[in-house]
Amino acid sequence: MKNQLIEAVQKLKEKGITKPQIGIVLGTGLGNLIEEIDIQVEIEYKNIPHFPLSTVETHSGKLIYGDISGKKVLAMQGRFHYYEGYSMKQITFPVRVMKQSGIKYLLLSNAAGSMNPRIRKGSLMLIDDHINLLPDNPLRGSNLDEQGPRFPDMSEPYSPQLNEKLEKIADEENITLHKGVYAAVAGPNLETRAEYRYLRGMGADVVGMSTVPEVIVANHCGLPCAAISVVTDECDPDNLAKVNIEEIIETANKAQAKLTKLFVGLVKQRT
Ligand code: HPA
Repeated sequence: MKNQLIEAVQKLKEKGITKPQIGIVLGTGLGNLIEEIDIQVEIEYKNIPHFPLSTVETHSGKLIYGDISGKKVLAMQGRFHYYEGYSMKQITFPVRVMKQSGIKYLLLSNAAGSMNPRIRKGSLMLIDDHINLLPDNPLRGSNLDEQGPRFPDMSEPYSPQLNEKLEKIADEENITLHKGVYAAVAGPNLETRAEYRYLRGMGADVVGMSTVPEVIVANHCGLPCAAISVVTDECDPDNLAKVNIEEIIETANKAQAKLTKLFVGLVKQRT
């Protein structure tokens, strides 16, 4: 893994990705932040050594490097999901590559279903904490001590400083930003009514199929991160509407302008 990391980082350097400051992972239907980047380098995942290949049609799978208001950002357009068949180590490899390339913090987005009746479809939720229900962990196996501790602390998985800034920007931009708990499940099926009830009962506000592996690795390697869920469906077990992926993507597409404003607002700030 150490050598794989070195090779991937080396490739990015060769392509001109020399000083990224901020990493961004864009979730399903949430790619339009790319339009805000003054792009200098674009690399398809398939051209980066040891990067897994994206298989989901909605994810175009490239790394984009450029400027937002003078800040160098490295954005992943398309991420890797456990349900696609990748190992947790593959899913989180790009986070280690970005960290190793020099980013100072990581922003993540995802589409999620809401079990909290106050958090409606089309709104945004800042992830304050999470519950990991995925059946594997990216840190399982021998620990690379030079990257992080065997037993990383998870008392503050999402940076309070970044979260505070995002909440302030939301306030200034008049964007409602809920705050709550994200539960990560394996998917790819959506949940049953009984499962939504169970998730709500255990303290989750929203549920999705990503983000948590990346956040675990970010915490492992001491990389501050913040994540926002775009609520694409309402998961009231007593009134559960059938959802389809097209609808989820359409809702994400409609809500993403707000998400972009928050992330761009944060990137622009002096850190
Ligand atoms: N469940 C799991 N993942 C999701 C959902 C959901 O309801 N909506 C969007 N991603």
